[in-house]
Amino acid sequence: MINTSLITGASGGIGEEMARYHASKGGNIVMVARSIDKLHELKSELESNYNIKVTVIESDLSKADSAMKIFAITESAGIQIDILINNAGFGGHGKFHERDLIKDQAMMQVNMVSLVNLTHLYLQGMVNRNYGKILHVASTAGFLPGPLQAVYYATKGFIVSFSQAIAQELIGSNVTSTVFCPGPVATGFVTAGGLEGVKLWDNATTAKSAAICGYEAMVKGDLLKINEKKLGFVLNWVVPFLPRKILLKISQKAMEKN
Ligand SMILES: NC(=O)c1ccc[n+]([C@@H]2O[C@H](COP(=O)([O-])OP(=O)(O)OC[C@H]3O[C@@H](n4cnc5c(N)ncnc54)[C@H](OP(=O)(O)O)[C@@H]3O)[C@@H](O)[C@H]2O)c1
Repeated sequence: MINTSLITGASGGIGEEMARYHASKGGNIVMVARSIDKLHELKSELESNYNIKVTVIESDLSKADSAMKIFAITESAGIQIDILINNAGFGGHGKFHERDLIKDQAMMQVNMVSLVNLTHLYLQGMVNRNYGKILHVASTAGFLPGPLQAVYYATKGFIVSFSQAIAQELIGSNVTSTVFCPGPVATGFVTAGGLEGVKLWDNATTAKSAAICGYEAMVKGDLLKINEKKLGFVLNWVVPFLPRKILLKISQKAMEKN
């Protein structure tokens, strides 16, 4: 069966590689982002390499009505979404009280609110058809508080919780919700979030390997997937048992710049 996926944040990084991977499997794609030129470039590449149809939608997911507009476009075009990949997101660096609140509000809108809205809009059709997959791209940041990235870590914690709760509600149906939690990945995320100089990204994995790992976890219907084994062990078996104050110190240190 050929599935059509909707991928947010397909103009770069992990989302772009997920689009390439999905296309290589012969699936049509609806790609969403603000950078319309990049989306058109990728559409040309994928349509010339594979026998698929790519639709691009220019959308700023920090706008309150963006998810409804995206849904209206796919509905009026008669495009059935079988796979929803909520990947778009961004971070930011600095003490919360010193940061621009407007940026953190936009971050919450993109990382959480639009993600929830898109899930609500597309999940209903999936449940009615008893077929579909949702992949939420969260982060290992979703497992702990993140001093110097307080709002970003909290948005990712929200996604980790939200996706798993939905997954449980969907048991018994043929619809799954997977949350993907990558560690550091070498993408535009670092520049977009002003994270240059943070050591955590010195040994970052590639966007392609992260994308394939997350996509395959979604295909299997995994509840939650961390792309790095060691990191997964630490987050599941060390972090929950550390005294809070020690954990917070370690977490802050990891976010400090060189
Ligand atoms: N890189 C990492 O180390 C890392 C680690 C864990 C989790 N993640 C998560 O992985 C996801 C993808 O990030 P990435 O690493 O691939 O970063 P990236 O290369 O910066 O890509 C982010 C994508 O999100 C889109 N986006 C950002 N703001 C948007 C907005 N207002 N409206 C619509 N689209 C928007 C961007 O598109 P436009 O700019 O064209 O709009 C871009 O396509 C994010 O959710 C991120 O939190 C990343």
